[in-house]
Amino acid sequence: MAEQKATNITWHDHSVSKAERQQQSGHKGVVLWFTGLSASGKSTVANTVDHKLFTMGKRTFVLDGDNIRMGLNKNLGFSAEDRAENIRRIGEVGKLFASAGIVTITAFISPYRRDRDAVRALLEPGEFLEIFMNTSLEVCEARDPKGLYKKARAGQLKGFTGIDDPYEAPEKPELVLDGNTKSIDDLADEVIAFLQQKGVLSLS
Ligand code: ADX
Repeated sequence: MAEQKATNITWHDHSVSKAERQQQSGHKGVVLWFTGLSASGKSTVANTVDHKLFTMGKRTFVLDGDNIRMGLNKNLGFSAEDRAENIRRIGEVGKLFASAGIVTITAFISPYRRDRDAVRALLEPGEFLEIFMNTSLEVCEARDPKGLYKKARAGQLKGFTGIDDPYEAPEKPELVLDGNTKSIDDLADEVIAFLQQKGVLSLS
């Protein structure tokens, strides 16, 4: 937990309530937290879900690892501490987006269970939906779109998740996606069916 540096600050209650914002959205505000290895398909499925929900008239937004690391989190690397801080900030941003009545979709490796659980604890029960992109290391490595697995195997990139850095799979994710055999479109449809079944896409 980061130290509280500022003093003499008070939390301002928003005058428009979360319930009113959700009312205007016509659905709940949640965080869909994708976790999985690099090249597992997190970002691609997240963006496809985003596009489908947007077309359905839902309020959505994607926070994506590589993009966030170019802006908000550009001062962070890949040590365990930096990854923890990366996930903590995304968790806080996700919480703000969710309270704005937005279906917030995040796509970060988030390799440590403890960091993901800390984000879960930030949100209300039912607001944090952990989606495990279950794609094997073999499949991710065969895809290797950025050539990073190759570099890691050659020893040119140290501390790469799945090679010489850990990945802790979720124990009780809300949803598991089979990234080895299924198409991106089918996986995105699975996510949407899951959201419908959970009642996220309506207000009741
Ligand atoms: S996380 O571990 O802190 O959640 P994040 O999802 O933000 O990682 O960023 C992962 C992306 O950074 C990978 O998809 C890859 O493109 C790139 N990357 C660069 N170095 C590493 C590394 N050592 N381990 C994992 N990913 C890395």
